[in-house]
Amino acid sequence: MSHIYASFRSIGAYVPEKILSNADLEKMVDTTDEWIVKRTGIKERHIAAQNEVTSDMGAKAAQLAIDRADIGKEEIDLVLCATVTPDYFNMPSTACIISDKLGIKNVQAFDISAACSGFVYLLSVAKAFIESGMKKNVLIIGAEKFSSIVDYTDRGTCILFGDGAGAAIISATENKKEALIDIHASADGAYADFLVTPAPGSVNPVSQKVIDEGLNFVQMKGNETFKLAVKTLTKDVKEILARNEIASANIPHFIPHQANYRIIKAVGDALKMTEKQVVLTVGKYGNTSAASIPMAINDIWESGRLQNGDLMLLDTFGGGLTWASALLPFAGKAK
Ligand code: UT7
Repeated sequence: MSHIYASFRSIGAYVPEKILSNADLEKMVDTTDEWIVKRTGIKERHIAAQNEVTSDMGAKAAQLAIDRADIGKEEIDLVLCATVTPDYFNMPSTACIISDKLGIKNVQAFDISAACSGFVYLLSVAKAFIESGMKKNVLIIGAEKFSSIVDYTDRGTCILFGDGAGAAIISATENKKEALIDIHASADGAYADFLVTPAPGSVNPVSQKVIDEGLNFVQMKGNETFKLAVKTLTKDVKEILARNEIASANIPHFIPHQANYRIIKAVGDALKMTEKQVVLTVGKYGNTSAASIPMAINDIWESGRLQNGDLMLLDTFGGGLTWASALLPFAGKAK
């Protein structure tokens, strides 16, 4: 009997129109363009319009991914969305709303919560569903309206985050050359307080206290998270390459989560990656959490850099704490 593998068929992304520049932030909090660029590499980020919600951005990215995979939406049999800024914090899931916006009917749909690691986590979920034979074409989406949980008086966080969405179609194949090679995803809840939105939730249901203390905003232990991210990711990407006996020189596209240029540079340097291998979008999008990796993949696809068969190495780190890395070929058509 032939084996079934999961393959990465297509990519799409959506970037909201409005730009929030470092110069804009200088007028809002005590910061400077120089500090932000030097410490993070971020020059600007995009912010969704007030009436533009996470599912709107996710649906736009998903539609592109569907069109580029050359499949009909009726062939999709699972819809997954990774987000920590869902349309509704409790229910319904953003995946259900995106399915409806796309006209995908009677198909299993659900969200996962793994913060910035969400998209790579979804890859592992899609892989498991496909390789077990349960599903054939999985739509995975990372979508975030981070501006909805950012306190624009907190200079430690508001300079970092942006909004956007990215999506991909993961399909069954019998061709081993197209298969996702390896995914490693992990978590450590002992560091839950490094990145947290304290409300709303069962710990802090909506109350006057939540409003007065701004508990609905993201809180981050920035420097501690930074140090742990560099240490964990360096180890993780080295391990995934060693386990699969692939030299870093043979990876044309290293696509890290775009949180901070200094984290990307430290991990890239540890792998001896050249500038040409490392995909960088943090300067123009900031940190878009679960959307950051698919937005970056979309960038190299749209610029014609991503070719069929090209190997991609992904790595990510985020709230939970969660982290993940993945090694896979691009099994779709180049632009
Ligand atoms: O995506 C999920 C994972 N998240 C991350 O990976 C984020 C990781 N963290 C970071 O990217 C960095 O820690 C930050 C960019 C958030 C901060 O950079 P840092 O080099 O770790 O700075 P720091 O927090 O140690 O702060 C250094 C100084 C402090 O002042 P003092 O105490 O030295 O006087 C801060 O108050 O920089 C100050 N500072 C700022 N100054 C100007 C913090 N934020 C700002 C700011 N503008 N926006």
